[in-house]
Amino acid sequence: MNLEHICNQVCSLSKEVGLFIKTERTSNKNIHIEVKGIHDFVTYVDKTAEQKLVDGLSKILPEAGYIAEENTSTKKGEKYNWIIDPLDGTTNFIHGLPPYAISIALMENDQIILGVVYEISLDECFYAWHDSPAFLNGEIIKVSDKKDLKSSLIATGFPYYDYKRIKPFLESLEFFMVNSHGVRRLGSAATDLVYVACGRFEAFYEYSLSPWDVAAGAFIVQQAGGKVSDFKGEKNYIFGKEIVACNNFVFDEFLVSVKQFMER
Ligand code: IPD
Ligand code: CA
Ligand code: CA
Repeated sequence: MNLEHICNQVCSLSKEVGLFIKTERTSNKNIHIEVKGIHDFVTYVDKTAEQKLVDGLSKILPEAGYIAEENTSTKKGEKYNWIIDPLDGTTNFIHGLPPYAISIALMENDQIILGVVYEISLDECFYAWHDSPAFLNGEIIKVSDKKDLKSSLIATGFPYYDYKRIKPFLESLEFFMVNSHGVRRLGSAATDLVYVACGRFEAFYEYSLSPWDVAAGAFIVQQAGGKVSDFKGEKNYIFGKEIVACNNFVFDEFLVSVKQFMER
């Protein structure tokens, strides 16, 4: 299987569907919003984008199945499955605010072997495949070389349904506000992750995420030389609903700090 070729095809498809998403945003149409749950929105743009992605991906790798946020296809692949978020950052999109992105990962058995995150508003395509470096629009990217937490810029997301852990989470925010360069909440977990991969952020953590939010971005962080784990420092970060991603220098110090609040 030529993963580089498949990756190029997935990047082209993402840009094509990204153009559809961007055009819908700027066309002055009334974007009808459905409410999936508290603070959880979906629009016809999310659903149509996912249908276009599934149609395109089924031509690229016909035997693969899907884990897709809007459930366009429930086909399960024996060996290969695409993990898709057709629009990560729907709330930003609805409000006309960047960033928002398409996130696509390819899983072989239970290993991610390819990831593409296309951030639509800045036209930035981040991608990697098994054994490749990570790329941004054709250029190799690497995680930052900042050495400690106090010189790190940190990204996170705010939980919008699991409020049981909100207290320790808010305490962790206070700690990072005081002990780092600052904390940002962009509203697209896939974008947060690829910004770690290219060194704009040193670290990212969030809980209550789904596989389609993190699968591609977490893979790209690792191909860019970074480290990823769940809050215990273990490997259950795709399906385990919690993730830490970091440059390799800051990882241990950052994980200890996250654990101190979120694992007590
Ligand atoms: C959301 C974004 C956001 C994160 C939420 C996700 P969606 O994805 O990634 O940054 O904080 O937890 O659900 O709903 O816009 O695809
Ligand atoms: Ca998402
Ligand atoms: Ca989404």
